[in-house]
This record gives sequence, structure tokens and C-alpha cells, in this order.
Amino acid sequence: MVLVSPSILAADFSRLGEELRRCEEGGADVIHLDIMDGHFVPNITFGPVVVKSIRKETSLPFEAHLMIERPDLYWERFAEVGVGWITVHAEVKIPLRPLLREMEGSVRRGIAVNPGTPLSRVEPFLDMLDFLLIMTVNPGFAGQTFIPEAALKVKEAVHLREKEGFHYLVGVDGGINAVTAKTAVAYGADVLVAASAVFRGDVVENIGRLKSAGGGDGQD
Ligand code: DX5
Ligand code: ZN
Repeated sequence: MVLVSPSILAADFSRLGEELRRCEEGGADVIHLDIMDGHFVPNITFGPVVVKSIRKETSLPFEAHLMIERPDLYWERFAEVGVGWITVHAEVKIPLRPLLREMEGSVRRGIAVNPGTPLSRVEPFLDMLDFLLIMTVNPGFAGQTFIPEAALKVKEAVHLREKEGFHYLVGVDGGINAVTAKTAVAYGADVLVAASAVFRGDVVENIGRLKSAGGGDGQD
């Protein structure tokens, strides 16, 4: 069954605790935290201080999607405040292999791949990954439109996993709603990350809709 991962970027930040509890009620699987530094992407969000304060509001696992130039300098700060999955971007200018080695044993390791980046860029690291996040928008903001060509990489990622015996989950992030979720799941996606489609309207119903788009036991 597909996993639903609400991105709090579209949540009401003045009542995050309540929003997280609604996610739990709706059957969300992982909470997606979009961490932006204003350099890797043209937007700034929040850091470990905020994550620490919302950690006590839910028992759901946290994934930090680090859209920052120096994940090597910050990933541990997120791990220390209870983030169990750390996803770094394939496009950062620092070497990924030593970083992934450093993370081994502490957190689940993920790499995110922008729409313009081919999977060949991360092929050397696939055996080290727990999570491969296919970006279906250019990162920076919630509420953008799904890029269908980018989602084709899901198929490729699943094919490589089966062929080589890798174990990563494949996620999609950006413009995911009940319609685009169907495409992503048909391609083999295991994890649906969504901000707007979860937090605009009723959170519990919205998560149900995404689950059923993935053939799960949602409400419609
Ligand atoms: C984009 C973020 C996404 C974003 C998704 O930079 O990585 O996680 O919050 O937002 P929606 O689901 O609204 O496209
Ligand atoms: Zn994200």
C-alpha cells in the first residue's frame, strides 16, 4: 500500500500541533519537512528549533527534505531533534558518498532528484539508499504544477531497484493530488509527498483521497 507523507509547507504554521494530529488521524505515514536555506532554492523555511518543538506533537516519523547547499553541516542537527529520515539533494556541490557514509546507521538515507537531473547522476549511490525522492516540480514552493516527464523517473528507479536488488522506497514530491497520485502509483511510487492536496481543505479526507488514489483503503 502506498505511503502518504504530508508536507507541512502548506499547513497553518500558527497551529502546527493540531495539523499534525489531524495527519495522524487521517492515517499519514511520514511527516515531510521542507527545509530551505534561501541559497539552494529561492525560499527560506524553518530549522531544527521548530522541528524540535513540533516533535512532541506526534509519534509519526519525520523526514527532513534538505533543500540546502550544505547538508553535511546540518543533517546531524535534524537527527538530534528526532528526524529519522534525512533526504539530501543530488545537485549539491559537496561529495555525496562521504556524506552518505557518515549518515549510515544514524538515519534512513535519502536522495532527492530535481526534474532536470537524470537518474544516472545518483546511480553510484543507489545501493546506499533507503529512499529516492523524485521531484515532480522544481523545488522551492508548494502549490506548483506536476511535471509529468519528471515522474517517468519513478519507472526507471523501480526498474533499477528490481534489477539490482536495491531496497530504497521511491517517493514523488511536487504537484501531487488525487489525479497525479494515480500516475505516480501506476509508475510504481511507494511514497506520495503532498502539501497543498493535504492541507487545503479537510486534512483527514484529503489523506484518505490520496490513499485511495494509491489503491489503499481511503474513503472514496
Ligand atoms: C517543494 C517541496 C515540496 C512541496 C510540495 O519544494 O519540496 O515538498 O511542499 O508542495 P505541493 O504538494 O503543494 O506541490
Ligand atoms: Zn519536499
